[in-house]
Formats: sequence, C-alpha cells, structure tokens
Amino acid sequence: MDDARYKKVVAVNSSRKKGNTYTILKALGERLSAAGVDFEMLHLRDYNINHCTGCERCITIGRCTQKDDFGRVQASLTGADGIVLSSPVYMGSVTGRLKVLFDRTCSWYHRPVLVGKPALIVTTTAGSYATYTARYMKRTVIGWGMHPSGTILRKARTLNIRLSENEYDAFIHRLFSPLSQYRPTLAQLIHFGVQKVLALKILEIDTEFWKDRGWDESPFYYRCRIGPLKRIFSWVFYKLLFYRVKKTDRS
Ligand SMILES: Cc1cc2nc3c(=O)[nH]c(=O)nc-3n(C[C@H](O)[C@H](O)[C@H](O)COP(=O)(O)O)c2cc1C
Repeated sequence: MDDARYKKVVAVNSSRKKGNTYTILKALGERLSAAGVDFEMLHLRDYNINHCTGCERCITIGRCTQKDDFGRVQASLTGADGIVLSSPVYMGSVTGRLKVLFDRTCSWYHRPVLVGKPALIVTTTAGSYATYTARYMKRTVIGWGMHPSGTILRKARTLNIRLSENEYDAFIHRLFSPLSQYRPTLAQLIHFGVQKVLALKILEIDTEFWKDRGWDESPFYYRCRIGPLKRIFSWVFYKLLFYRVKKTDRS
C-alpha cells in the first residue's frame, strides 16, 4: 500500500473461535477498523505448530529444523505493523496453544524480528489470574523487542462491558507514531542490555546480527525518547553485566 497511514494489525487468537476472547477481539477489530486499520484475526487453531523439541538449534545455528506452519505465523506477524496478543486464562496462565507458539519463538529473544511494533494484550478469565497472565504476555512481547501498548482484561462478570477508548487508544497512537516518539520502559531497556551482553559475549552467531543493526553501540533498538535517569540506570546495569560475564562461545 502507498498510503503512509495504512496500518495492518494481526490479532492472535489462541482460543476457541467465537468464545469470550474472540468476542472481545471482534469488538476491538471493529474499533480499529473505524480508526483506519486493516485488522486481521489469526486463529492459532488453524495452524499446525509443533512443540519445541528443546534442541536449541534456533539459537545455536539460527534455524529451526521442524517442518510445520510456524513460518507462516512468523510471516503474518512480521508483516503486521502492530499485534494484538490474546489468551483466555487456562490453569492460571496462557493457553497451551499460545505457550507452544511462545516456545518456538525462543530465538526472537536473541535475534528479534518484531522490533518496535506496538502490542496490545487481551485476556479473559472466569475470575482469577488475569493480571498474572497479562503480565506474562507483556514480558514475552518485551522479549520480542515490541512495545507493550495497553491491556484489555475481562472477567466473567465484566465480559459484557463495552470496550472503552482508553483501553486501546495508546495502541492506535503508537501504531501511527514514529519510533522516535516512543519512550521505552526500564524493563525494556534492561532486557535490551541483557540480550546485548549475550550477543557480544556468549552467542557469537548473534554478534554480527547485532552489529549490523548498530545495536552494539546504542542504548536501545532504535532512536527514541529515553529519560535521563532510565538512560543512566540501564547503562550502569549493562556495563556491570558486560564486565561480569566472561566471553565464551555457545553457538
Ligand atoms: C482448561 C481451562 C482452564 C481454565 N482455567 C481458568 C483459571 O485458572 N482461572 C479462571 O479464572 N478461569 C479459568 N478458565 C475459564 C476461562 O479463562 C474463561 O472462561 C475464558 O473467558 C474463556 O475464554 P474463551 O471463551 O475465549 O475460551 C479456564 C477454562 C478452561 C477451558
């Protein structure tokens, strides 16, 4: 598309088609479409994604040897400008289906492919663990290099409450704002520092990836607004970690 304001959002549904979480995603999709967004729902149950076998080859040789639909899901997510990540609470956390996807994205922590894209988290629950589950999903998207931009939580007794604008405003705002206006949190800066140390000291296979992007010399993945205190704190943290970790090659 030529239109600079054209934005594509993919919403990952890790639950039933037409369940509670789907209903929230559908309402959200209507709101985002009204804001000029091309909204697409990706139902994980339509994809065959194998469990991670634990070989760590995605990290050590940069490639997963499994033949399944993971690559199709990755292509949809990398092709989107923003992602809505959703899960009902299952046994206190995300659905198994979403956890299987998370496990397969292990290398994205080291060589992130979704950097700078905003993420909106959606969780539904009968009553418990919504905050815990949303926090876990938020940590995961930070690991992917994304920018957490809001959370929508619904319990059984609040399912019928209409979405309010302030639940998705920040996400739309980020979607249409340049990266230079983003303000990463300390958690994002610390995560970046940890992965930078791994890339420069432990996983030689990642060193080039990080250097190619200039991340070895920058405080974050891209130029953005970092407050002075956060900048100093994350720099000190990075330097301490860098000098503590011995250079070895695990790749
Ligand atoms: C296997 C399973 C486990 C669940 N575990 C929890 C739980 O730990 N806490 C809770 O409050 N609700 C739990 N629920 C209820 C769901 O989180 C809730 O009904 C949710 O809105 C379902 O979303 P869905 O219709 O999109 O599947 C569970 C439901 C299922 C099917």
